[in-house]
Amino acid sequence: MTNNILLEIKDLHTHYQLDDRVVKSVDGVSFAVPMGRTVCIVGESGSGKSVTARSIMGLIDKPGRIVAGNVLWHGRPPASGKGKIAPGSSRETVLGEQAIDLARFGSTSEQLRRMRGPEISMVFQEPMASFSPMYTIGDQLVEAIRLHVEIGKSDAWKMAIGLLDRVGIKRPEERMRSYSFQLSGGMCQRAMIAVALCCSPALLIADEPTTALDVTTQARILDLLRSLQQENGMSMLFITHDLGVVAEIADEVVVMRYGKVVETGPVDAIFHDPKHPYTQQLLAAVPKMTRFDVQPEDA
Ligand SMILES: Nc1ncnc2c1ncn2[C@@H]1O[C@H](COP(=O)(O)OP(=O)(O)OP(=O)(O)O)[C@@H](O)[C@H]1O
Ligand SMILES: [Mg+2]
Repeated sequence: MTNNILLEIKDLHTHYQLDDRVVKSVDGVSFAVPMGRTVCIVGESGSGKSVTARSIMGLIDKPGRIVAGNVLWHGRPPASGKGKIAPGSSRETVLGEQAIDLARFGSTSEQLRRMRGPEISMVFQEPMASFSPMYTIGDQLVEAIRLHVEIGKSDAWKMAIGLLDRVGIKRPEERMRSYSFQLSGGMCQRAMIAVALCCSPALLIADEPTTALDVTTQARILDLLRSLQQENGMSMLFITHDLGVVAEIADEVVVMRYGKVVETGPVDAIFHDPKHPYTQQLLAAVPKMTRFDVQPEDA
């Protein structure tokens, strides 16, 4: 492959070997994320969306494991050595000469560790669990920034405040000194998005990133992500239950059920002409007011 494809998932199988049975959480999933585009994964609870995302990041814990398939990264290979990036450096995504199969690496591999952050960054579904209760949000943001950006502590502190401000957190200086348990779920979610964006990743994987947010904040975050996409050509893999968000942000949609992809296609085709009965059911379950084919005057 391929023109403009940044990430290609090919026939991925991720299973959990339990004592008495095997859970086939991801059971032959294939799709691609083009450069600078947004792919949304939708599907009911338990359909394998998060396990797909964690498989890409190499974050499957035992007794789970990728048993077959490929996670082909067509972007630039991870920088070798310490490989920190210069602050404010242009992070325009470029395709590498050869694809790297991330599924071959173990979760502790050095290669994958170097990819996480600057190349692929993830907003996890449980924002509270993503922060340690032992350190302030500021300390954790500064550490995340300094892991990948060649920058001193006080500049990283300023950069972190700027990021919190960009994700719509009021009084960011004050919040830097808060602990995660002192923040609301929505604030934690936004702080998590700030961490994920701190080194301008080539690919952002966001697992239900806006569920705890009110509609105004959600709209602000979606705007921010879109503008980053325009600035840096960032690609996004966005997991959401909210078909209103899909209509807002997706270029392509992947519909999952029972660990498999039942339908995939451009967002317009999925909304206007869904082929699979399950996709038709999903769309039928959305209250009409939020369907994007409803014009304001109809509402
Ligand atoms: N650590 C684990 N051990 C055993 N089974 C697991 C584990 N993690 C996930 N699963 C199973 O894998 C399947 C897919 O889970 P996954 O978390 O990917 O669903 P999801 O589509 O993200 O659902 P939701 O919309 O609720 O977040 C589920 O049946 C789940 O029970
Ligand atoms: Mg999930």
